[in-house]
Amino acid sequence: MAHLIGSITTSHVPAIGRAIARELHQDPYWKPFFDSYLPVHRWLEQQRPDVVVLFYNDHGLNFFLDKMPTFAVGAAARYETADEGWGIPPVPAFTGDTALSWHLIEQLTAADFDLTTCQEMKVDHAFTLPMALLWPSQVWPVKVVPVCINTVQFPLPSARRCHALGQAVGRAIRAWDSDERVLVLGTGGLSHQLDGERAGFINKDFDLAFMESLEHDPTWATQFDSHQLVERAGTQGVELLMWLAARGALGDAPVRCVHRNYHIPISNTAAGLMVMEPGAGA
Ligand code: DHB
Ligand code: FE
Repeated sequence: MAHLIGSITTSHVPAIGRAIARELHQDPYWKPFFDSYLPVHRWLEQQRPDVVVLFYNDHGLNFFLDKMPTFAVGAAARYETADEGWGIPPVPAFTGDTALSWHLIEQLTAADFDLTTCQEMKVDHAFTLPMALLWPSQVWPVKVVPVCINTVQFPLPSARRCHALGQAVGRAIRAWDSDERVLVLGTGGLSHQLDGERAGFINKDFDLAFMESLEHDPTWATQFDSHQLVERAGTQGVELLMWLAARGALGDAPVRCVHRNYHIPISNTAAGLMVMEPGAGA
């Protein structure tokens, strides 16, 4: 059976793409941020995943407000990015793991999740930048399966539902008849608000409580509805739903956090990073 090696959760700010292009890794503003990924590179070298299941939210590149699936799973052989207007140089295309895509789609549908399946899909900065942070050479050593969760247009799926989606994805990965080593990646957040009266809002206390909960009390955030999450984390801070889904995939047994970083601000965002391994019995 496939082996779920762990989860990585990280923020996905467009400014990271420009900083990479300008090679600002040693710049005083960027250094603490980029340095926090060095232990993750070492962990990836040890763990050597074959495939990444990537929870992220599209920001208008692949889905726009006219058609907005709540949950969408990629089933393409290849995923490309495109210009979103942020000035980010394009990254090389990604190879899809279509066998895992269809396995997930079948298992999730059987578990009563109503999905949109995408045999053509463009991936935006929320997908490409975390991949470039994990593999700075941009020579991708993994295949990918995108799992897209709507956080752009209300109504949003609840935190409870996103955690349950992650649990179902984790069960499906563990039941996959394959020798592949699977990494789950969740990108977004943490607290930030890009628009309105509270533009620039960051809630450090909430973010740290949320990160702590992922390790010790993974359903803590499911007590909040979408409006309560916006109140606490900001309009775009609801992207933390990706972290909740990724954590859900690791299962209900205790997990081991092997790396954690929290840094404010990067652009308008509280930049968070966590690496977790499933506990024994997961
Ligand atoms: C920013 C953060 C995001 O999550 C995003 O999608 C776009 C911009 C920012 O902080 O600038
Ligand atoms: Fe975002």
